[in-house]
Amino acid sequence: TYDAKIDALLAKMTLEEKIGQMNQYNGFYDATGPAPQGGNAALKYEHLKKGWVGSMLNVHGVGEVRKLQELVVNESRLGIPLLFGFDVIHGYKTLAPIPLAEAASWDLEAIRQSASIAATEAAAVGLNWTFAPMIDISRDARWGRVMEGAGEDPYLGAKIAIARIQGFQGNDLSAPNTIAATAKHFAAYGFAEAGKEYNTTEVGTNTLYNFVLPPFEAAVSANVSSVMNGFNLLNGVPVTASSFLQRDILKGKWNFNGFVISDWSSIGELVPHGYAKDLKEAAELGAEAGSDMDMESKAYIQHLKSLVEEGKVDEEIINEAVRRILKVKFELGLFDDPYRYCNLEREKELLYNKAHQQGVLDMAKKSIVLLKNQGKLLPLQKDQKNILVIGDLADDKNSPLGSWRLASDNDTAVSVLEGLDQYTKDYKFVQGPKYFNDDTDFLYHVKINSDDRSGMEEAIEAAKSAETIVLVVGEHGFMSGEGRSRTTIGLPGLQHELIRKIHAVNKNIILVMMNGRPLTIPWEAENLPAIIEAWQLGSQTGNAIAQVLFGDYNPSGKLPMTFPRSVGQIPIYYNHYSTARAKEEPIVFWTHYTDEKNEPLFPFGFGLSYANFAYSDVQIDAAKPENIKVSVVVTNTSDVAGEEVVQLYLNDPVSRIVRPVKELKGFEKITLGPKESKKVSFSLTHKELGYYNQDYRWVVEPGSFHLMIGSNSQEGVHASFILE
Ligand code: IFM
Repeated sequence: TYDAKIDALLAKMTLEEKIGQMNQYNGFYDATGPAPQGGNAALKYEHLKKGWVGSMLNVHGVGEVRKLQELVVNESRLGIPLLFGFDVIHGYKTLAPIPLAEAASWDLEAIRQSASIAATEAAAVGLNWTFAPMIDISRDARWGRVMEGAGEDPYLGAKIAIARIQGFQGNDLSAPNTIAATAKHFAAYGFAEAGKEYNTTEVGTNTLYNFVLPPFEAAVSANVSSVMNGFNLLNGVPVTASSFLQRDILKGKWNFNGFVISDWSSIGELVPHGYAKDLKEAAELGAEAGSDMDMESKAYIQHLKSLVEEGKVDEEIINEAVRRILKVKFELGLFDDPYRYCNLEREKELLYNKAHQQGVLDMAKKSIVLLKNQGKLLPLQKDQKNILVIGDLADDKNSPLGSWRLASDNDTAVSVLEGLDQYTKDYKFVQGPKYFNDDTDFLYHVKINSDDRSGMEEAIEAAKSAETIVLVVGEHGFMSGEGRSRTTIGLPGLQHELIRKIHAVNKNIILVMMNGRPLTIPWEAENLPAIIEAWQLGSQTGNAIAQVLFGDYNPSGKLPMTFPRSVGQIPIYYNHYSTARAKEEPIVFWTHYTDEKNEPLFPFGFGLSYANFAYSDVQIDAAKPENIKVSVVVTNTSDVAGEEVVQLYLNDPVSRIVRPVKELKGFEKITLGPKESKKVSFSLTHKELGYYNQDYRWVVEPGSFHLMIGSNSQEGVHASFILE
C-alpha cells in the first residue's frame, strides 16, 4: 500500500495545498454545465501554479494535458501531479454503442472489452480518469439519462457495473491502457420524479437498499477508484451533503477506500437547493458529509481554509479526503511518471485503430434486439432484390453515434446505407420527410420537424412497388442523455405518420429503430411484421445492422428495460410487488387502468433470435441450503445456430418484507448449434436468496421459493423448492 508515502507527503503539505487537492477545475470553457462564477482562466492558472488544484476535467489530448501537468509539476511547491478526468462514456474517438444498448447484450465479457477499448484510447490522450460507469437504476424512460445506464434491474446492473469497472481499470491502474473509473451518481438520481432531469427523488428504504444501492455496492467490491454523488435531493437531503450515504454507507458499511467527487457544482448547488445558506456553509456541509473533491463550484478552495481556522471543519476531514485522492494518484503511477499518459505516439497509433473498430462492431452486433419477426421476414436473402430503404436516419452518420460523446468526431458512424452497401447494391433509398432539422449539438436541443411533409409522397410512391422495405426510424442521438427528459416517448415528429402511410400501401416492412430509451410504439408492434431495436450503436452502426438484416449475425440481445405501451404506465418494471388485487375481475375493483392494459409492450429480458429455444427439465438440489443447485436444459429447436440468454428469476412468496413478484438472480449467455441442447446450471446462495431489511441488514427467510427460468421475464419453466 501507499500509506507511508501518503503520510510523508501529507506531512509536508500546507492547509491550502491539502485543500487544493480537493479542488477540481473545469478546462477553460463551459463544457458539461454552465461555469459557476464564470470561467476565470487567469485565476485557474494562478491556482494551478500554487498547487491549489488536484484535478482538471475536460482537458484532453496529449498536448493540452502535458502543458498543465508540466505547469503543476514544475511550478508548484510540491509538484503533485493532477488527475485528468473526462466523461468517457461509451468511447473516446472510437464509439461503442450507448451503454443502455450494451446492456442489452447481457454479455459481460463484451462489455468489459468495450470499456477497455475506451480506456485505452482515453489513456492515450493524457486522461487518467473517466466519469463512468453510470450505474443508476431507472424505471422511467422519460428520463434522458437512461441511455447512459444499464436499465432497470439491480442484479444485471451490478454485474455490468463490475464488468465496466474492470474494463476501465484492469488489474493494474498504472498500466498505460487503464484509467480510474467512477461509479455515479450516488445515489437514486435515476428516480427523478416524473422522469424530469435534476428533479427531486423520494425513495423508501426498501427500494433504496434493494434496488438503488446494490450496483454501487458491487462497484465498491470491484475496487472502483471514485464515486460521484449527484444533483438530486434524496428524501429531503441533497445527496452531495448526505453523510448517511457517503459516510455511513459508502465509506462505513462498504469500506470504500477511493474518493468521492461531487457532480458539476453540486456543492455550490446546496445553496439553491435550500440546504446551505451560502457557498461557505455549502463547503462545510459537503466536506463534512464526505464529498472529497469539489467539481467546479469553487466552494472548497474559497472557504475550507477559513472553516478549518474557525474550528467549523476538523482538519482531519481534510486529511482524510486528501489521503483518498493521493492514493488514487499513487495507484495510477503519476508520482513515478506524471506524463505516463502523455505519449504522442500512442495517441496517433491508438485512436480509431482497427482492433478498436472490430471490438465496437462486435459489441454493436450483440446489442441489437430483435423485437418481432412475423412470417420470418428476416433475415433477408443475400441476393434479395428490390429492397427499398426509407428514412432520414438510414443515411445519417452522426445521430447513431448517440449522446455523451464529448471528444468524438461528427459524422464518423458507418451509416445504415454504408452497411448495406457491403451486401448489395440492389436497393433503393428514399429519404422521406426529414425527421430532424440540421445543426444539432450536445449542448442544445434537437429541433424536430413536425410540419414539413416534403418527401412523404415520394416515399409512399416508391413503397408501392418494393418487395421489402427497411424503414429506419427513431430518436436523434442527442434526444437522450443529460438534460433530455421527454413527456412523450413515441417516435418523434412525422415518423409515425410516415410508417402508417407506407404500411397502407405495402405491409412488408422491417422497422429498424434507433433510440436512446424505450419508446412507446404500440401500433407498430401490433401492425408491422418485423422490428429491430438498434439503439444508437456508435462508430460501426451500419455494419452491425446490415449483418443482422442479412443473417450474418443472429441477434441475441435482450431488453434491459421494459418498453411501456404508453407513458401513463411509467414507472413500469418487471420486479414490482404484487398487489392484493392483481386478479382480473368482472367488477372494477382490481389493479388496472380503464384505458390501457397492465402489461408492457415488451417486457424486461425480451428479445428474439432467428433460432428458437425450448426450455425443459428443471432440476433443483436444495440439500445444501447455502448452495442450492438448479439446472435446466435449453434446446435450439431450429436449423440455425444462435445465442440465448438463459435467465433465472426468483420469488419468495411469503416474506416479512414483501418481495417482488420476481427478481433476476442469474443468467448465462450460451451458443447453441442447430438442434443442439445444453444443460445450464446456476447456484443460489444466500446472496441470491436474501434481501436487505429496513435496518439495512441482509436477511434470508427460510420457506418455499418459486423460480422461473426462461428467455425473458414473462416466459419460462417454473419450479419450487423449500429453503430449510
Ligand atoms: O460526469 C458528469 C455528470 O455525470 C453530470 N454532470 C457533469 C459531470 C462532468 O461532466
